[in-house]
Amino acid sequence: MAAKTAELIWFNGEIMPWGDAKVHVMSHALHYGTSVFEGIRVYATHLGPAGFRLTEHVQRLYDSAKIYRMPIPYSFDQTMQACRDIVVANKLDGAYIRPLAFYGDVGMGITPPKDAKCELLVAAFPWGAYLGEDSMERGVDVAVTSWNRLAPNTIPTGAKAGGNYLSSLQISTEAKRNGFDEGIALDVNGLVSEAAGANLFVIKKNKLYTPPATAAILMGITRDTIITLARDKGYEVVEEPMSREFLYLADEMFMTGTAAEIVPVRSVDRIEVGAGMRGPITKEIQASFFGLFNGETEDKWGWLEPI
Ligand SMILES: Cc1ncc(COP(=O)(O)O)c(C=O)c1O
Repeated sequence: MAAKTAELIWFNGEIMPWGDAKVHVMSHALHYGTSVFEGIRVYATHLGPAGFRLTEHVQRLYDSAKIYRMPIPYSFDQTMQACRDIVVANKLDGAYIRPLAFYGDVGMGITPPKDAKCELLVAAFPWGAYLGEDSMERGVDVAVTSWNRLAPNTIPTGAKAGGNYLSSLQISTEAKRNGFDEGIALDVNGLVSEAAGANLFVIKKNKLYTPPATAAILMGITRDTIITLARDKGYEVVEEPMSREFLYLADEMFMTGTAAEIVPVRSVDRIEVGAGMRGPITKEIQASFFGLFNGETEDKWGWLEPI
């Protein structure tokens, strides 16, 4: 029996006990990876529980489904409401919301039948720091793995799809088997792409660098948040292709994602990044990000969406 992480779950339009949300073992998604999903954080803010950039996450869910021509049988507004409802139903102030649309028991053909509709679930449960509570301050050790990110003409990395995470699994588990905290991958051209489930930023001479959309990345919403916050603080941020050795020579480096939030990187391939600890600009960016949730950073962008 899997870990029960909340009392209730939203499944195909109904809120039901966690254990009652069941699918058939012949579900298409289980066999072929045909699912698209999101990860959204709800923060307990000074204004009450707020979904961080909830609308944009739900939009990315629909964008991922569009790329795969997957019809989600619920409107955008219904999915937004499902996200809010399941947080409230579980009486959560802070949460991780996981909406997932997938093909269920629609037959074993690789191409689902024309009239096949997706199923939709929305789970919400507490989730602390992805790489451990002290990782935010201490930083983590990462390795560039032997597995490349997906080539652009194979599987689209711009869609957050279940099948993509086989690539993430290889990247992350290889790194962990070798004693690192997390793996990062190069793209098919040998340039830096992203971590298994997070985007990357490098700081060199007070300037922030991050790989571009064409580096086989998922266009992270946290990545966009950091670009915006850093520019607002007067830093120059550039999205440009990056070589592996650029990581070794960085002054500071950090990873960003909804689950990971902002995790400093203290070494790459056992080469220390800067002073081998969280750097001052990373600390400042973290403060400005987490300040959004207690009001210390003004939310000029309307990113906090009340639940
Ligand atoms: C492969 C991958 N890259 C990047 C990210 C970061 O995206 P976001 O900041 O939107 O969570 C994630 C997490 O969702 C991810 O799974």
